[in-house]
Amino acid sequence: MKILAIETSCDDTGIAILDASNTGDFNVLSNVISSQIEIHKQYGGVFPAMAKREHQRNLVPVLIQALKEAELLKTQNPKPKSQPNSKSQTIKNILEREPELLKKIVPFFKKYQKPDIDFIAVTNGPGLEPCLWVGVNLARVLSYFWNVPIIATNHVESHILINLLPISVIPGLTRNPETLDSRFRGNDNRVKFPAIALVVSGGHTQIILVKDIGDYQILGETRDDAAGECFDKAAKILGLDYPGGPVISKLVEKIYGCPTSVNLPRPMINTKDYDFSFSGLKTAILYHHQKQKKTIQKNKQYIADMCAEIQQAIIDVLIKKTIQAAKDYNAKTIILGGGVSANHELKTQLLIKLHDELPKTEFLFPEIDHSTDNGLMTAITGYFHRDKRIDWKDLNADANLRIGE
Ligand code: KG4
Ligand code: ZN
Repeated sequence: MKILAIETSCDDTGIAILDASNTGDFNVLSNVISSQIEIHKQYGGVFPAMAKREHQRNLVPVLIQALKEAELLKTQNPKPKSQPNSKSQTIKNILEREPELLKKIVPFFKKYQKPDIDFIAVTNGPGLEPCLWVGVNLARVLSYFWNVPIIATNHVESHILINLLPISVIPGLTRNPETLDSRFRGNDNRVKFPAIALVVSGGHTQIILVKDIGDYQILGETRDDAAGECFDKAAKILGLDYPGGPVISKLVEKIYGCPTSVNLPRPMINTKDYDFSFSGLKTAILYHHQKQKKTIQKNKQYIADMCAEIQQAIIDVLIKKTIQAAKDYNAKTIILGGGVSANHELKTQLLIKLHDELPKTEFLFPEIDHSTDNGLMTAITGYFHRDKRIDWKDLNADANLRIGE
């Protein structure tokens, strides 16, 4: 079956096409992402109204590219003179709030044939509401025009399930060899449950008990800022670029930042729950930075040391709570997901800790390109929920959608 997947929950416009067999063999036909980093850089974070407008502009070119790469883009033959009026009115109604998308989709429908796809998977939450609606409305209009069903997917679940895709080996980091040997290709019965998932991104920080694929329970989460958001805000305080996570981690590596020369708090590290709080850390970073003289604030080594300590403070709390949850729930697997899972130090330190404290627990983490938002993760979740097809008329975006509820 061929799945066309759409992801627009934040500032990445992603469309992927996945060919999946009923036995779970995955063949990725395309995974196109258009990043808006350059646009949001000037604000030091994502500007939702701007992100919505960019999604409207990007979606059709990204769709064309994804279909082209999958060899599914075929022009109409012979070219129809005009669109049947009955359909164009409904298209206008569906895209009433996405005028820029409407302008691009009408010529697309005129020019190209319906591709050979079986269903559309789309992220309908959680995320930034204006952004989610653009993707959802594209899915609705494609579903209506092509007469193919829709599967609504949860973005947090997609950050977990992207781990069901085989990965190439990451230098310096190997997974449990047993896992590598029995690499499942979308075959859910090879994942050992129960699992503990740590989903860490710009919008979410959650520890989730995964009893099975589709059976989840949130054990803990951040009470304020997400871990990725903390990286982003810290970078802004230090005068660094957005997104803060990759900028901070690269700086630490490049200039050998030393975490011990600054002392930042590890909020909630000793609480007996699985919750987090990162806004206090952000405030501590701000106060510490404001106390420095102007010359120090611009000093490269000082910045690198601050970055190292910020990264370490975040990692310490994430690892402590994840290992605790894994022990408490006898987890057979730990699954890492979300943009912050791109962080090499986080993966390395979690791997070492697991080796020392839970050597039998397997560790899954996504390939670096699949850590941040992309359409492929949506396609995989769509695959596992392929029986839950819904009519385009019943589909809504839900910014506060919660996994397992
Ligand atoms: O999953 P994602 O692409 O979007 C959301 O669902 O929020 O995550 C984006 C977040 C940003 O906050 C970014 O700073 C963070 O992931 N991030 C990283 C790294 N790469 C991206 N954080 C730490 N280290 C990284 N290497
Ligand atoms: Zn995400």
